[in-house]
Amino acid sequence: MNKQQASLFSCAYQALMTPEPLAKKAIIDATAIEWEQEQLTLEPVTVERVSKPGRPQKPALVPPRELVKRKISTVEGRAVIVHAVAHIEFNAMNLALDALYRFQEMPIDYYHDWLLVCIEEAYHCSLMLERLEQLGFQYGDFPAHNGLWEMAVQTDHSLLDRMGMVPRVFEARGLDVTPGMIKRFNGAQDHETVSRLEIILHDEIGHVAIGNRWFEYACKQAGVEVIPTFQKLLHKYMQGQVRGPFHTEARLEAGFSQHEMDILEAM
Ligand SMILES: [Fe+2]
Repeated sequence: MNKQQASLFSCAYQALMTPEPLAKKAIIDATAIEWEQEQLTLEPVTVERVSKPGRPQKPALVPPRELVKRKISTVEGRAVIVHAVAHIEFNAMNLALDALYRFQEMPIDYYHDWLLVCIEEAYHCSLMLERLEQLGFQYGDFPAHNGLWEMAVQTDHSLLDRMGMVPRVFEARGLDVTPGMIKRFNGAQDHETVSRLEIILHDEIGHVAIGNRWFEYACKQAGVEVIPTFQKLLHKYMQGQVRGPFHTEARLEAGFSQHEMDILEAM
């Protein structure tokens, strides 16, 4: 394909379907440079349902109850958690790519925002893969679960549902649990992992904020109110269940309102 005429959507799809994490990252980084240099078009491409994005043969995908658990005081125990975060970041890369590829009639800022998320998720994934290697393990050494991607598939028909559920529920959950994880790694004297998790936590606030921004946009387009719509989505996809406790300060920074946090607390 003539580079001059490549479409952002076809580049995103190509990265989405590429199996190896670092090869995926390389396509994202190259796409970002081309986008910056205004070499990409927004020429639409056919949108397919992506039930299986590109991923390596391992890790094996298992139900959450079959995930490995080890004591954090051991190197393997720390590697299990680093592996789980690497897997989340790998999925987050795919989710951001899918957000770019799937919704092709959005304002230009939407593509700036989601390409930035792609770049940062790819960077996070590489930070975790590198740390995993330093601990003597590789991506694929432990099983993983596929909950994030399953939610992506379930919401692939609607920008409103996707923005409401993925960044505002799943990614926001990352804001809640990462400080506790940082504390545990500090307790295990693993300051190298801590500094990497701190980068992730910081950037993730921005990703949830981007999700909030485009959820609000989707609500406005549909002529519906943000909070009742979010509650309806929680009932539709999660049987009205939300998991706390919440990292309220980070969530407020990411654009949740205090009123919304009060409602979540009450649920
Ligand atoms: Fe991330």
